[in-house]
Amino acid sequence: MNNYWQKITKNSYIFGRKGNPLKGTVRISGAKNMVTKIMTASLIAPDGKLTIKNVPLIGEVFMTLDFFDQMGVRYNFLPEKRVLEIETEEFGSSRVEFKGEEGNRISLLLAGPIVSRFGQATIAKPKGCKIGLRKIDFHLEGLEKLGVEIKETEDFLYLKVGKKGLRGAEIQLPFPSVGATENMIITASCAEGETTIKNCAFEPEIIELIKFLQEAGVEIAFSEDRSIHLRGTKKIKLSEVTIIPDRVETMSLAAAGLSTQGDVFLEGAKTDLIIRPLEILEKMGAGIENNEKGIRFFYKKPLKPISLKTEVYPGFPTDFQQPLAIILSQVKGVSSLHETIFENRFEYLRLLNPLLRGEKKFKILNDCPDEEKCRFFGKNYPHLAVISGPMEFGKGEISLPDLRAGFAILNAACLSEGIKISNLGLLFRGYEDPVGKLKALGAEIELVI
Ligand code: EPZ
Repeated sequence: MNNYWQKITKNSYIFGRKGNPLKGTVRISGAKNMVTKIMTASLIAPDGKLTIKNVPLIGEVFMTLDFFDQMGVRYNFLPEKRVLEIETEEFGSSRVEFKGEEGNRISLLLAGPIVSRFGQATIAKPKGCKIGLRKIDFHLEGLEKLGVEIKETEDFLYLKVGKKGLRGAEIQLPFPSVGATENMIITASCAEGETTIKNCAFEPEIIELIKFLQEAGVEIAFSEDRSIHLRGTKKIKLSEVTIIPDRVETMSLAAAGLSTQGDVFLEGAKTDLIIRPLEILEKMGAGIENNEKGIRFFYKKPLKPISLKTEVYPGFPTDFQQPLAIILSQVKGVSSLHETIFENRFEYLRLLNPLLRGEKKFKILNDCPDEEKCRFFGKNYPHLAVISGPMEFGKGEISLPDLRAGFAILNAACLSEGIKISNLGLLFRGYEDPVGKLKALGAEIELVI
């Protein structure tokens, strides 16, 4: 079984170096950013059983199960079958905290489910990757509108349902935040009355969350102007849900294939989840074919450089910025990536710089490109990367800075003279067996536990 999350230690490392172009077929796992949201949302059902299929074996799932253990939620996880059954009858505790240093954003999404049952909750403040300020003000303001009273300390949020109970509200998100949209949808689904949420995010995983709740009996309508209208209910009925393929894993493995001039078939990958990234790769000259079984990414001619910005979905996703940067490092010419979602998401390029041979380095700037000022303009955040390829990765060691950068650094290692990678908890929190999958494509890479 590919459950490396529970096996790796502080001393575990990965060593990768350049081999042949990657070739072959691997299967894409279930989406990290859907499964945990469905797990937390299921807890708004006062009783019943949910079966979740295609569950990825990643740390984020085990961390959410750890929250379940703390709360006394009953579940049955069958990792070999990728099936998780959750029984949402009464559970015993309204407090959740992180064990150890590792944290994520999921604790915050338990706010609604816990307060709806206990009237109060004590939850660890979310941690998650250090890629920007990652404030939680939208979540807290929204929860207050839905009737939750909040006190906070440095590490915890103390939540209590106010005198009028959880009730529907009009919520205007200042920015289409993924987590805040999900939090508002989940909490409003068990609040009394109607809620309107404006300026929502509509990532595919959010659409799946909406479909899951609709099937469970919540009336939810969403429209193209980024608004959601829903009516909460106490009668949530759970049945079964299948997790969609992970679009970030898809792009990471596609990048591994393309940057080594290879030819990979990603079984289970779906084009409708990655429309904008496919447009970009096609524009760069990548070979892409798809059928009902998956997507083939192959090198057919020298790729062209590109300049783009990351945007709210359906724009080019911030989570694809890292795999793309590694492809661009192998492309002749000057490319640029303007990160407009997170303030500080180029740390991995800074860490890769000393490992590059020769004069060419990743340039990380605090500017916006000319004519393209974003909300970080003038604020001194390192949010523009200029990549002058082709670059050559030499030898060295890297301690992973964040989860999505983790896979990008594996890809860089597969182009290098030899890179040793540590701090693997971050990587295995989000990817199922990344080393096994790269090896199956012929990469010269080893995980040493
Ligand atoms: C989700 O993070 C994902 N995480 C991220 O993936 C992803 O990069 C991000 O959405 C954007 O697509 C999960 O789903 C667990 P946001 P989230 O709220 O919800 C600001 C991964 O490894 N903001 O959409 O935390 C925020 O600082 C991760 O899978 C506030 O200012 O992202 C950021 O600038 C990395 N106040 C912007 O909004 C708030 O209260 C978008 O963040 C909330 C957000």
